[in-house]
Amino acid sequence: MILVISGTNRPGSNTRIVAGLAVDGLRAIGEEVELLDLAELPPEIFDPSSYAAKPAAFDRFQRAVLDADGILTVIPEYNGGFPGVMKYFIDMLRFPDSLFEKPAAFIGLSDGAWGALRGVEQLEMIFQYRNAHLYGRRVFIPRVSRALDAGGGLADPTLAKLFDEALAGFAVFCRRLAG
Ligand SMILES: Cc1cc2nc3c(=O)[nH]c(=O)nc-3n(C[C@H](O)[C@H](O)[C@H](O)COP(=O)(O)O)c2cc1C
Repeated sequence: MILVISGTNRPGSNTRIVAGLAVDGLRAIGEEVELLDLAELPPEIFDPSSYAAKPAAFDRFQRAVLDADGILTVIPEYNGGFPGVMKYFIDMLRFPDSLFEKPAAFIGLSDGAWGALRGVEQLEMIFQYRNAHLYGRRVFIPRVSRALDAGGGLADPTLAKLFDEALAGFAVFCRRLAG
């Protein structure tokens, strides 16, 4: 199973739309996929006591990460980085096994010109630190408000092709690492 993480908790985010495109694209090539939307994190997880004891409602998030054969994280650019809630989510995951040797891929998006390049590279450093196996091909979606068409698809066929190729390549990467 490939886990797609929508890496912000902002309601109505473009990140959630792009994560949905990734889920659809992976399913279209026959992959089993689950979506984790950080907007659905249980509010209790933000209580400082959660560092010591996780609320039961967090179990499905933890389990999805542990069960995944690969993790595709979609993040927006917030203040030149990835959203704080994404780091908090990682900090809440069981240590050290949660990301250990997990195939991991990244998609970034922003209103600005760089498609969250900085945020993706910051997040890659953290996954690398946690001994994940990083897939080299990233997708960056700049000017995201214009990049999405009225139906929520990618308006630019060149970008849509890159997006689909990255999904297909990541699926192969996950299978190869699974042995
Ligand atoms: C808190 C916050 C900070 C943001 N900072 C940046 C930024 O540094 N650079 C940028 O290009 N866009 C920035 N944006 C715009 C987002 O890239 C834009 O909202 C885009 O739709 C992706 O975010 P979303 O998934 O929340 O919709 C910011 C948006 C928010 C809510």
